Amino acid sequence: MMTLCEMAVDVLTTADGRAKTAKSRAHVEAWFDARAAGTPLEIGQADPPLRPARPQSPALLDPRDVPKRKPGSPAGRIALLHAVAHIELNAVDLHWDIIARFADIRMPVGFYDDWVKAAGEESKHFNLICDCLEALDSHYGALPAHAGMWRAAEDTADDFMGRLAVVPMVLEARGLDVTPGMIEIFRKAGETRAVEALEVIYGEEVGHVAYGSKWFHFLCGRHEIDPKDAFHDLVRRYFHGGLKPPFNEEKRAEAGLPPDFYWPLT
Ligand SMILES: [Fe+2]
Ligand SMILES: [Fe+2]
Repeated sequence: MMTLCEMAVDVLTTADGRAKTAKSRAHVEAWFDARAAGTPLEIGQADPPLRPARPQSPALLDPRDVPKRKPGSPAGRIALLHAVAHIELNAVDLHWDIIARFADIRMPVGFYDDWVKAAGEESKHFNLICDCLEALDSHYGALPAHAGMWRAAEDTADDFMGRLAVVPMVLEARGLDVTPGMIEIFRKAGETRAVEALEVIYGEEVGHVAYGSKWFHFLCGRHEIDPKDAFHDLVRRYFHGGLKPPFNEEKRAEAGLPPDFYWPLT
């Protein structure tokens, strides 16, 4: 039987997107089966790669070199879905990475439940968006993608609280801000399949931000530090460029992110 950390490294070192998400979903099932049986898997120890394995395509370009397309055109909508698929694949790796990278820090088993569940959901999101691309005669890898997506993980590779602050509480919270506008673009175009996929993503991402907030607050409590001040310090240290309104205040609140956390960082 593999430890949870071995499972995480198995996902992180698999390059192909569909193969990565298939392994991810199988490991999620194994974890929760063992939990349900009352015989939880060992967390173990791992040495995850600094960067996860990725497929040959898409080519990864500096964000400035990724061509911009009008969202009103069919090609623009394919480009938008392609960008979402890239984000979801990164998210699969990010959730497995937080499990393996910080396994030496003692955490309640619920921490692992949350990130294993989130990794399974990201795997489903990637597959749903790939299905949409394929239904439009495209695929993940057909267009270039942003190279900077793993930057936040590398910058916070030695800082557990920094990782929680920047990845779920800044980057995934940003997803809550922009997804309703994306859903509208596909609704106007009559692309029902993409609307349905994005609605699944929108619903489940609230949970990922909430897990971030929950475990960030837990660690602040453990170290007896003020969560809001710690959040501001860590985001300023590791996230470059400031946060951009408008914010989805309703969904952020649902996820445990109050306005005094993010407004001072704009
Ligand atoms: Fe996702
Ligand atoms: Fe997510």
